[in-house]
Amino acid sequence: MKCKSTVHKLFQIGAIDRRIFGGFVEHIGRCVYNGLYEPTHPDADADGVRNDVAELVRALDMPVTRYPGGNFVSGYDWKDGIGPREQRPARAEYAWEALETNEIGVDEFMKWCRKAGTAPLMAVNLGTGSLKDAQQLVEYCNFRGGTYWSDMRRKNGALDPYGIKVWCLGNEMDSPTQIGHKTAQEYGRLALECGKMMRMVDPSIELSLCGSSSVYMPTYGEWDSQVVEAAFDTVDYLALHNYFGYAANDRQAFVATPSILEWNIGNMVAICDAAAAKRKSPRRINLAVDEWNVWYRGNYKASPENIWQPGRSLNEEIYDMADVLVVGGALMTMLNHADRVKIGCIAQTVNVIAPIMTRPGGGAWRQTTYYPFLYLSKYGRGVSLAQHVDSPVFSCDNPYIPHPVAFLLSSAVYDEAAREIRVFAINRSLDEEMEFSFDMLGFSPSGVADAVEIHHDSLDAVNTETEENVRPAAIGRDRYRLKDAELTVSLKPASWNMFRIALV
Ligand code: AHR
Repeated sequence: MKCKSTVHKLFQIGAIDRRIFGGFVEHIGRCVYNGLYEPTHPDADADGVRNDVAELVRALDMPVTRYPGGNFVSGYDWKDGIGPREQRPARAEYAWEALETNEIGVDEFMKWCRKAGTAPLMAVNLGTGSLKDAQQLVEYCNFRGGTYWSDMRRKNGALDPYGIKVWCLGNEMDSPTQIGHKTAQEYGRLALECGKMMRMVDPSIELSLCGSSSVYMPTYGEWDSQVVEAAFDTVDYLALHNYFGYAANDRQAFVATPSILEWNIGNMVAICDAAAAKRKSPRRINLAVDEWNVWYRGNYKASPENIWQPGRSLNEEIYDMADVLVVGGALMTMLNHADRVKIGCIAQTVNVIAPIMTRPGGGAWRQTTYYPFLYLSKYGRGVSLAQHVDSPVFSCDNPYIPHPVAFLLSSAVYDEAAREIRVFAINRSLDEEMEFSFDMLGFSPSGVADAVEIHHDSLDAVNTETEENVRPAAIGRDRYRLKDAELTVSLKPASWNMFRIALV
């Protein structure tokens, strides 16, 4: 099959906000306890943080990490997690039916962020928490000193304010299963007031509003319109969550699922801009895709033997080669909407639906999905270019993908500082090679600096602690040709690919 993407130097979507390569650390399963934190592990530092895990996260170069939830945040009291560890209360954690020891709280998370090369994107509790709790958390984190809460932070060892920039106003408040679920009217008003109070402490913060937790919610769209209407004047981002798993056993339909995110982004942009239009406002609310990933295999709830325990396994999804195409495709979809998607957080970072897995007392390893994230984070920098795509299409039986889907999914990025264009391309045909051409109008390429593919003959291939079956490999020079401003290459079926093209 023949496919082509054409770009022109002048046709740019927008500058890529590095924060789309963010992560997510929630107090859930083995993400924090027995994940990034394991004091008895031979490779733990003095704070109990695993060095091997922090290094794998650091390599992903995640500018932000959302914390501490997720559903967890809606029942969490951040004050339980500060001060001397031996005085912190152990609590029943109702979102995930665990024991929360509170060994890790905001100060420990900040230390981990420094070690892992990331910065927090902090969520406040709008389920059971009060406006005052949220305001005091901003004071604890961002106020210089001289007040009760800022001095408490100083007393707890952090003399300088943390300067946390982006704050999530609750988590998935549309969902009836969320602790302290609200109606859209209740939440919209609460978010407005909460944001106002948080900004009184630090006017420089940015605020993110809970949009729909899923495209499958019966209130999808309506919820988003109502909350954006209510909080338009105070929020900077509308958060959307997008997990992929629909029809996962129909592999052809499954690799099309990034199109659901495409559709979701379009809908949310329309809702934000409609609210702006009604006000005749030039202001733009942008999008934060602050939970996304493949998720359909995990044990969602605790089993009777491990209920009310800290750090026991939950939602430990083992990713395969098919998931590489969906995770890579989702991130590329965000790149293709760089003008409006400013934040993305893969959910989550360690063990729980995560690109990094660990064994207690043992190794830490890269899942299959680690690799497309790594390459996109490393090389998806600069300006996202508009593409004209020619590709045969396929249809699939998914009501949320209301159009035929192109076999080719691609993103093109111009990194002026590095004098490179990068093209990321997925061949979504499961059985046919693709002759892919990439035409770079207005550019003068000088050569191919790097050509990498992720492919495995079996879509079921997974990585384990001892075997890395799915990993990037160089594409042989005999498989591609650069002539003038056009690259032509043959892409293997069901493969994820990246080319770095040097410019004169
Ligand atoms: O990431 C796991 C869970 O998925 C989060 O806690 C919740 O926000 C979402 O439903």
